Parts: sequence; C-alpha cells; structure tokens
Amino acid sequence: MTGDAINADTHKKYEYKIIKLNYKWLDKILCLQDLIYDNMQNKDIYEKITEFELIDAFSGNGLCLGTIIEKQLVAFRILSYGDSETIELAKDCNIKEIHQVAFIEATIVKKNFRGNSLQKIMMKLTMDYLKKRRKFKYALSTVSPKNIASIKSLLANGFKLIKLSKMYKGKLRYVCSYDFTNKVSNKEQTTTLKFDDYENIHNLLLDGFYGERVIIDENSFYIEFSK
Ligand SMILES: CC(C)(COP(=O)(O)OP(=O)(O)OC[C@H]1O[C@@H](n2cnc3c(N)ncnc32)[C@H](O)[C@@H]1OP(=O)(O)O)[C@@H](O)C(=O)NCCC(=O)NCCS
Repeated sequence: MTGDAINADTHKKYEYKIIKLNYKWLDKILCLQDLIYDNMQNKDIYEKITEFELIDAFSGNGLCLGTIIEKQLVAFRILSYGDSETIELAKDCNIKEIHQVAFIEATIVKKNFRGNSLQKIMMKLTMDYLKKRRKFKYALSTVSPKNIASIKSLLANGFKLIKLSKMYKGKLRYVCSYDFTNKVSNKEQTTTLKFDDYENIHNLLLDGFYGERVIIDENSFYIEFSK
C-alpha cells in the first residue's frame, strides 16, 4: 500500500510504500531499532526485537512490515506465531488454542515521520493479514501503560486491555487481546480511570473489566473500562 507522510523536520510531503520485509532488510531493521532505542529517554517502554526473532519471522513464523520512503526504511512492525514467547503468553491468558494465537510484537517509527498514523496503518495491515489467513483465533500484544500512542493504535484496531502485570524482568505491561471469533458481549458497566492509576486499573481488570477506549482531555489521558 502507498500513501503520503509529512517529514516533521522539513514539513515536506513524501510518498511512502508499506511492504513485506525479508532477510535482505535484517541489518536495516536492527540499525533503525538501535538508532531509536539509543536515543529513547524512557527505555522501559520498548522491548528490543532480536536478530533471532526477525529470522524466525522471515522464515515463515511471522510477518515483518516496513514503511519505505525514498528507498529508506522509516518504520517497521513485527508479528510472530508459533514461537515459545507467544505460546507462553497464550498460556498465561488461559487460552487453550495456543497454536491459533498470533503475537503482535515491536513497532518503531523514525522520529521525523511520527504522527502520520504509520503505526496505526501498519497495525491495520497486520490484522488484515491475520484475518485473511483464518487460522487464528486470537491476537495478543503487550504494551507499556505509559505508551499512549501504542495503546490508541491497539484499541483503534479492536484490541482490548485484559491484564496489567509485571513482565520482561519487572516492567509494567498491559496484555491486549483481539478475538477473531468476534464474540459480542453486552456491556453492563462502564467506568473511566486516569491512565496512571495502576492499582485501581489492575483491580478492575481482575474483576473482569477490559479497557477499550482512550479518552483525552486538556490535562491527561483516561482509559474507559467495561464489562
Ligand atoms: C509509538 C510509535 C510507534 C508511534 O508511532 P506513530 O506512527 O507516530 O503513531 P500514530 O501516528 O499511528 O499514532 C496513533 C495515535 O496515537 C496518538 N499519539 C501519537 N504519539 C502520541 C503521544 N506521544 N502521546 C499521545 N498520543 C500520541 C496519535 O495522535 C494517534 O491518535 P489518533 O488515533 O487519535 O489519531 C513511535 O512513537 C515510536 O516509534 N516510538 C518508539 C518505539 C516504541 O515505543 N514502540 C512501541 C512499543 S513496541
């Protein structure tokens, strides 16, 4: 797919192309990741993708999409399935069909092309890919509760926040789930909490609520929970 993106530094408009990446892009993906990670003020919100995970995705156990502008990689999004991390997470979510679970992993957008919805678009294309393959019942993802952009992009694509716990050596993460079987549940209760009210959010999720919407006002971000 193609579209236009504005470079925030130069205000110039560029055409982008989103393509499926292969082994040829391995070094470019790792370089872009290092560039962004090394300059990240809060490294806590990002779990680095490894060379091994990328090779696994390229060899058929996943998908890696990349956004290309003037032959340069400016963003990527990785999806995997069948690997041990996905299986462990599925078990942790009490999912029985562990082999019908896909794991939406890391995503990065180069600083000067942020705010063009590239993360959200790559996420939508990843979900379209999974829907077409029809072998999946669930997609799972993990996201830092401080990463509002990623929470918005997950919820906008139909994910629900189902759990808040410490993962990846003690880092706080939401586990988000997407149900491809489209089970519709009637909402009986709705409540809203400030995005960093972690203790109450944790308790609400334990009580069967799920997060499904980010609300923004001039002071802060809030999350709407229902059950
Ligand atoms: C997180 C990241 C991928 C977002 O990329 P992006 O392409 O700029 O995101 P999008 O433009 O798709 O934004 C999605 C939504 O979040 C909003 N948003 C973006 N940045 C935001 C911020 N810093 N604070 C609050 N909201 C933000 C956007 O306005 C958009 O909202 P909308 O749906 O109402 O329009 C990018 O900032 C990044 O690479 N960060 C470093 C790596 C990282 O943290 N990756 C995620 C964890 S794997």
